[in-house]
Amino acid sequence: MKAVSRTPPSYLQVDAFLTGFVAACALGTALRTGVIDTLLRLQPVARKSLADHLGGEQDGLDLLLDLLAANSVVQETPAGVELTPSFQSVLPYRDLLEAKIDFATLAAPDILEHFPALINDPAGFQRASRIFRLFNYQHCFDPTPENLRRTRAWMRFTTVLTRYEAQACLAVHSFDRYGRLLDIGGNSGEFALQLCRACPRLEAVVFDLPLVCAVGREHVAPAPEAGRIRFVAGSALTDPLPGDFDLVTFKSMLHDWPEAEAKRLLTRASQALTPGGTILIYERGPFRVPTAGVPFSLLPMLLFFRSFRPPSFYEEHLRNIGFPVVETQWLNLELPFFLVTAKLGGW
Ligand SMILES: C[S@@+](CC[C@H](N)C(=O)[O-])C[C@H]1O[C@@H](n2cnc3c(N)ncnc32)[C@H](O)[C@@H]1O
Repeated sequence: MKAVSRTPPSYLQVDAFLTGFVAACALGTALRTGVIDTLLRLQPVARKSLADHLGGEQDGLDLLLDLLAANSVVQETPAGVELTPSFQSVLPYRDLLEAKIDFATLAAPDILEHFPALINDPAGFQRASRIFRLFNYQHCFDPTPENLRRTRAWMRFTTVLTRYEAQACLAVHSFDRYGRLLDIGGNSGEFALQLCRACPRLEAVVFDLPLVCAVGREHVAPAPEAGRIRFVAGSALTDPLPGDFDLVTFKSMLHDWPEAEAKRLLTRASQALTPGGTILIYERGPFRVPTAGVPFSLLPMLLFFRSFRPPSFYEEHLRNIGFPVVETQWLNLELPFFLVTAKLGGW
């Protein structure tokens, strides 16, 4: 087992602004209501002048600015308020910042209202939880406007997280050696898109549920790589999978399934490979409470804590189904991730 990637990627600096509950709510409000954009245009700017530009109420703005200052988002100078250099350095990752705030905001009521069930009654928690209802894949088949709305809502979170997690994966695994990729549970196609962008020779098939594929096709369509990404709709547990791939990937997919189904998915994936082909699993490892406690940004992952398995489960099954050499690397992201790679017929 190789340990790699000790230095966290720079996009994770967004988390420094998302540790506290109120601090993250204040930042979300500042992003949504134009405070951050107005500061970017006018800084340094007097509080009174900022309130005039925003057309808002001074007392509320002052409290918001105090909260932003306590969270190192803004600082006071003799000339007025301005964004801190450290906050400006994470603004290129604004999509991630906003998605993490919105995802954790959705998770927060589940924690506040159902914490005893999270601890003692997993089935009851899943029934009561808003997040589990949002991620209900039963709504990904019938193309009603409401189902499409719900599917788009959770796909925004998976897509933005994957945009950045794909970069961390590309940094530790060379994908140039592959020609045909099947991404099972490949969602909006964002993982395939990032891999295709990095590897001009790669062609990808994204296999996912019908509405997810419909939203995914729209998502990749504007990209220059769209012609190399095809979507196939179905259930990977029961429908025929396309074949002849030298790489099959499962990114943050297998943890959704009980052990028997996760094993079945791996076995079916192995049948989609050409001789010498590779299965790659990219997943969060078991949830560990950080020494400083659980920050606001990790609330969604806390809710899913029962799902994340150690890589040994996947390693063992891959060996059992004929992959002689299985390799695992750990990535030091906001939580530990692992990359399990297994090649048919050995290395
Ligand atoms: C947790 S999401 C992960 C998505 C994406 N790979 C990522 O890393 O963000 C799990 C994905 O599996 C898909 N999925 C669920 N059931 C499936 C099935 N039976 N067959 C294929 N895909 C499925 C979901 O629609 C979703 O896109």
